[in-house]
Amino acid sequence: MQSIHRLDLLRTSIEAWRDGGETIALVPTMGALHEGHLTLVREARTKADRVVVSIFVNPTQFGPNEDLDAYPRTMEADAKLLEAEGVDALWAPDAGTMYPDGFSTSIAVDGVSADFCGASRPGHFAGVATVVCKLFNQVQPDIALFGEKDWQQLAVIRRMARDLDLTLPDADSIHGVPTVREADGLALSSRNRYLDETARRQAAALPAAMREAIGKIEGGTPVADALAELEATLLEGGFTRVDYAALADAASLQRIDALPDRPARLLVAAHIQGTRLIDNMPVGPR
Ligand code: PAJ
Repeated sequence: MQSIHRLDLLRTSIEAWRDGGETIALVPTMGALHEGHLTLVREARTKADRVVVSIFVNPTQFGPNEDLDAYPRTMEADAKLLEAEGVDALWAPDAGTMYPDGFSTSIAVDGVSADFCGASRPGHFAGVATVVCKLFNQVQPDIALFGEKDWQQLAVIRRMARDLDLTLPDADSIHGVPTVREADGLALSSRNRYLDETARRQAAALPAAMREAIGKIEGGTPVADALAELEATLLEGGFTRVDYAALADAASLQRIDALPDRPARLLVAAHIQGTRLIDNMPVGPR
C-alpha cells in the first residue's frame, strides 16, 4: 500500500492506473477506523480494480464547540488495518494541502441539509460537501462508498454529485453500505470510544428503542406518539438530550407524520455522557 501525502504524487498513481485501464473506488474517512469503515473497504474491493482510502479529520465540518481536538487520531494503526485489507493507496493530505492559504470556497447543499444534523450542527454539511467534492476531484474515482450510518450525509452527497455532475446520473457511483452494528445493536462509530462502560451499556437503548418505535408505527400507532415514547425511553435510559427523533422521506429528508407508502427512515440523534450518537433505520416499503 502506498501512503500518499502530496497531491502531485496521488495524481501520478491515479494516472498510472487509469493508463492501465483500471477502475478506482474511493472510501473517504476521518480515520480511527473500525469494522464499519473496513466493511466499506471490503465492498470497494469488489467494485473496482484499485481502492483508495482517504483519512482526513476535516476541521470545517466541526462546529466551534465540537470534538475536533479530541477526535481520535490513530494513523499508524489505521494504516496497518488498510494494508491488511489490500488497499492500494492511503490518501492522507495535511490541512495545508486540503485548505491552501486563502481558501474561500464552500458548497451549500440546500434542502436535504437543512433539518436534522444540519439544524443541530450549523455549517456541518457545507464542510462535508466541500471536502467530499475536493476528494472526488483529487481522486476522480469511478465509485465512492459511504455508510448508511450517516444517512443524511449520504443523501447530501448524492444530491451534490447529481447537481454538480460529479457522477453519471443513473450510475450507482455513490454507493451506500448498510450500517455495521455491535452485537447489542449499537452502530459502530469512532465516537463510541468516548463512552465509559456504563454509558456504553446504556447506549444500546438507542437502536432497541428505535426498533420498538418502528414496530409500533408499522403496527398502526400514530407516528407522533411512537416518537414521543421513543424520546421518553431514551431520556429514562441514560441519554441526556435528544436533538431529534423523526420520520423522514429517505431521499429528500422531508419530515413525514404518517406511515409512508415510499421508502422512509427513522432518524435519531441523542446525547449520552457528553457524546452525541446518531442512528437511522428503514421504515415502511424499502
Ligand atoms: P467517518 O465518520 O470516518 O466515516 C467514514 C465513512 O464510514 C462514512 O461513509 C460513514 O458513514 C461510514 N461509517 C461509519 N460508521 C459506520 C458503520 N457503523 N457502518 C457502516 N458505515 C459506517 O463520515 C465521515 O467520516 C466524514 O464526514 C467524511 C465523509 C469522510 C467527510 O469528511
